[in-house]
Amino acid sequence: MTATRDIPSGTAPAACRYKVPFVRPDLPAFDDVEPVFRRVFASGILTKGPELARLEAAARRLTGADDVVAVSSCTVGLALGLAALRHMQGDPSRREVILPSFTFLAGPGAVTWAGFEPVFVEVDAATWTISPADVAAAITPHTAAILACHTFGNPCDLAGLTRLAAEADVPLMVDAAHALGSLAGGRQVGGEGFAQVFSMSPTKLAVAGEGGLVATSSASFAALLRELREYGNDGAYGCTLPGLNGRLPELSAALGHASLERLPEACRRRQAAAEAYLDVLRGASGIGFQTIAPGGTTSWKDFSITIDPPLFGVDRDAIRRHLALRGIDSRAYYSPPCHRMAGFERYHLHGPTLPVTDSLSARSLSLPMGAHVTPDVARMVANEVLDTRR
Ligand SMILES: Cc1ncc(COP(=O)(O)O)c(C=O)c1O
Repeated sequence: MTATRDIPSGTAPAACRYKVPFVRPDLPAFDDVEPVFRRVFASGILTKGPELARLEAAARRLTGADDVVAVSSCTVGLALGLAALRHMQGDPSRREVILPSFTFLAGPGAVTWAGFEPVFVEVDAATWTISPADVAAAITPHTAAILACHTFGNPCDLAGLTRLAAEADVPLMVDAAHALGSLAGGRQVGGEGFAQVFSMSPTKLAVAGEGGLVATSSASFAALLRELREYGNDGAYGCTLPGLNGRLPELSAALGHASLERLPEACRRRQAAAEAYLDVLRGASGIGFQTIAPGGTTSWKDFSITIDPPLFGVDRDAIRRHLALRGIDSRAYYSPPCHRMAGFERYHLHGPTLPVTDSLSARSLSLPMGAHVTPDVARMVANEVLDTRR
């Protein structure tokens, strides 16, 4: 397949047939951002300037959230957001944050950085997002927050979780790292719940280099977050809650803004690639897919499948080896799941078994996705997955 031969990869063995990196950033054309970069250089304002304000305003319009605070990464947004929440609650007995174990370690990492304890619960076997029933069972008087996740771009059950959060009087936060381009009820997610935190790192649909966006319905939370990303400085060189340098530089904000403007294009491209993957893989015995929740639209931040070895004939890791030999990069995301990581397992010593999480962790496989994955590339990769059995 000549279309893929010229895709450079730093990791592909020299002699292999294809060179398909796992991801390639979906960037605007340089000519489109050059004038803005020149403007930033000419102004000499490299941080806390007009580009930051422009990005925050665009993200507010996109998400419909009351406010959006841009920060240096999604991880920093989650950590500072949870620290702000802890301060606002002011109740040391509320020390637990409920979240899925089948997620990226930045989630529980932020929970512990903010001084909370992670409480890991199960995900739904079909959607791979946090199960509201398991959240309900885990809520106690010690619960400070629910931290759901739009895993791989698939919107979590926002309606169910919002209801649950209201009934339990517990704020709903969402790790929305994968969710620029994810829709609920036809509109970009972000306005629901207490706060949702997006990532603009290079693997995402809109890229700032590094960057995060905290969308929130709470004005006091947004105000505190703006202090926390500024060391905790209250503006008069006083400090009630210590923070960090969590600022997003102007050049990143400018790139992020240009990238947000072409989000619909990135969504269309990933949708076309996902459809091509599905065309080839749907119907193959032993391959499963993430079910997109009714009323939801995934960003396809990742295209992930599950492998059932007895039915498919080989296991996930054999497929990964087969692809790697052909220069096709893949990921076994969330393997191990967070509750089995040395840094977090002590929080789960008395936790429930998480069979769906363990099973997804052992069987799921994420295939290349991003600016370089045209429908032709996706079909070729999918056929190589099927060829593993030969
Ligand atoms: C689910 C999830 N949460 C959080 C993050 C952290 O995002 P960032 O790299 O912007 O800190 C990631 C990173 O990809 C992620 O996948």
